[in-house]
Amino acid sequence: MSTLLGMPGTFAVLESGSADDPAAVRGFVMARQVLDEAEVLTLAVLPSCRRQGIASALLARLAVDCRGRGAGRLFLEVSEANTAARALYEGCGFAGIGRRRAYYADGSDARVLARSLTD
Ligand SMILES: CC(C)(COP(=O)(O)OP(=O)(O)OC[C@H]1O[C@@H](n2cnc3c(N)ncnc32)[C@H](O)[C@@H]1OP(=O)(O)O)[C@@H](O)C(=O)NCCC(=O)NCCS
Repeated sequence: MSTLLGMPGTFAVLESGSADDPAAVRGFVMARQVLDEAEVLTLAVLPSCRRQGIASALLARLAVDCRGRGAGRLFLEVSEANTAARALYEGCGFAGIGRRRAYYADGSDARVLARSLTD
C-alpha cells in the first residue's frame, strides 16, 4: 500500500472510527489520477463491517475528491466472478465499457467499468 501511495497522482480515502476503536480503519479506496482521468486501484471493507454502506460512501467521497482534482471520468476493473463488487459498482453508477479476457490469476475475465463525474 505504501508503495502504491508513493506513485504520482495516487491517493486514498479512508473510513475510520468505531465506538471501540476510533482510530481503526474500516474501509478504504485507493485511486490514481492522471490529468482528467481517475482509476480505482483497490477498494476493501473489513468483513465485520460489510453491508453497512461503507463502500458506497467511500466511492461517493472518492467521486467528489476526483472531481475536485479535475477528473471527468472514473474507471475501474472488476473480476467477472466478484458479484458483490459488481453489484456495488452498478449501484454507484458504473457501466461496462470493456472486458479483459483471463485477466485474473483464477482465469476470470476483468470487466472494465466507468462512470462520468461531470453529471
Ligand atoms: C465489495 C465490498 C467493497 C463491498 O463493501 P460494502 O461496504 O459491504 O458495500 P456496501 O455496504 O456499500 O454495499 C452497497 C451495495 O453493494 C451491493 N453489495 C455489497 N456487497 C454485496 C454482496 N456480498 N452480495 C451482493 N451484493 C452486494 C449491494 O447492492 C449493496 O446494497 P444493499 O446492502 O443495500 O443491498 C466488500 O465486500 C469487500 O471489501 N470485498 C472484498 C474486496 C473486494 O472485492 N473489493 C473490490 C475489488 S474490485
